[in-house]
Amino acid sequence: MPAKQTKGNVKKSRPAPARRRATIASRSDRHDLYQRAVQDVKAEIDFIDKWFKRITGRLPARLREDFCGTGNTSCEFARRRPGNSAVGFDIDQPTLDWGTQNNLPKIPESARMRVKLVNCNVLTPVPAGRRADVVLACNFSYWIFKERDLMVRYFREVHRSLVKDGVMFLDACGGWETFKAHRESRPERGFTYTWQQASFNPITHECQCYIHFKFKDGSAMPRAFSYNWRIYSLPEIREMLLEAGFRHVTIYWEGDDGQGGGNGIFLPATTGEDCPSFIVWISAEK
Ligand SMILES: C[S@@+](CC[C@H](N)C(=O)[O-])C[C@H]1O[C@@H](n2cnc3c(N)ncnc32)[C@H](O)[C@@H]1O
Repeated sequence: MPAKQTKGNVKKSRPAPARRRATIASRSDRHDLYQRAVQDVKAEIDFIDKWFKRITGRLPARLREDFCGTGNTSCEFARRRPGNSAVGFDIDQPTLDWGTQNNLPKIPESARMRVKLVNCNVLTPVPAGRRADVVLACNFSYWIFKERDLMVRYFREVHRSLVKDGVMFLDACGGWETFKAHRESRPERGFTYTWQQASFNPITHECQCYIHFKFKDGSAMPRAFSYNWRIYSLPEIREMLLEAGFRHVTIYWEGDDGQGGGNGIFLPATTGEDCPSFIVWISAEK
């Protein structure tokens, strides 16, 4: 007599499908890819140390990293010298948590204790006792403030949060390619990184940008990150920083590698080359 077939013992006529192999995309972590493709925290802190020392005659010891994301730069700053401490501000708790779980363990315990990643809006006034030598706003994150008044308010808060001889360091990009939709890709170790400016509104200068990752097995992580910003020009940024109370603003232009690219060396400049795209460092002295 055949066994009574219940749901649990029905004989399957077809073999179970072979387990699909996980794609590289499904096994990858978007924050890890971002850090590898976009950031060079050692070069960032080298630049800050060098120019802060030239401006003030001393090395910075207290960093406030605005829009810190995973706090990668804060970790590098704390790791540099035993007297260094860093506080990173961001409003995205999962990203801060990722940094706490993945970046903090990579630096020595003594340095780890000198890094704080805080869920805080950068517009929030900071108590006077916690003033920083350097406030850093990297990867154009401050372009989230699309109204001029809001940007000046942000720069005022930064100015207030700095010590007497404190310096704000920020970056900006520009060039005529910035004023149209465009996309650029470059190979990284194990994946391709794509920056896409999907739209640009010439009336408001608002743009919608995405970061995509693609892998050698054909899998992809489309729109791993998305940003809605207003693109500001260098004269606008300078004027807003001065209006917010900074006494001196310097633009650092990148040198040429002789093959149409940058050489990674940024020097103070008052004239730049009229090129399709560029990235600059900016310092604003209190
Ligand atoms: C482009 S990521 C920057 C990551 C990092 N600073 C870097 O250099 O790569 C922008 C970050 O800004 C954060 N953010 C946006 N608005 C903010 C605000 N008002 N205050 C603090 N963080 C903010 C987002 O959560 C996001 O993590």
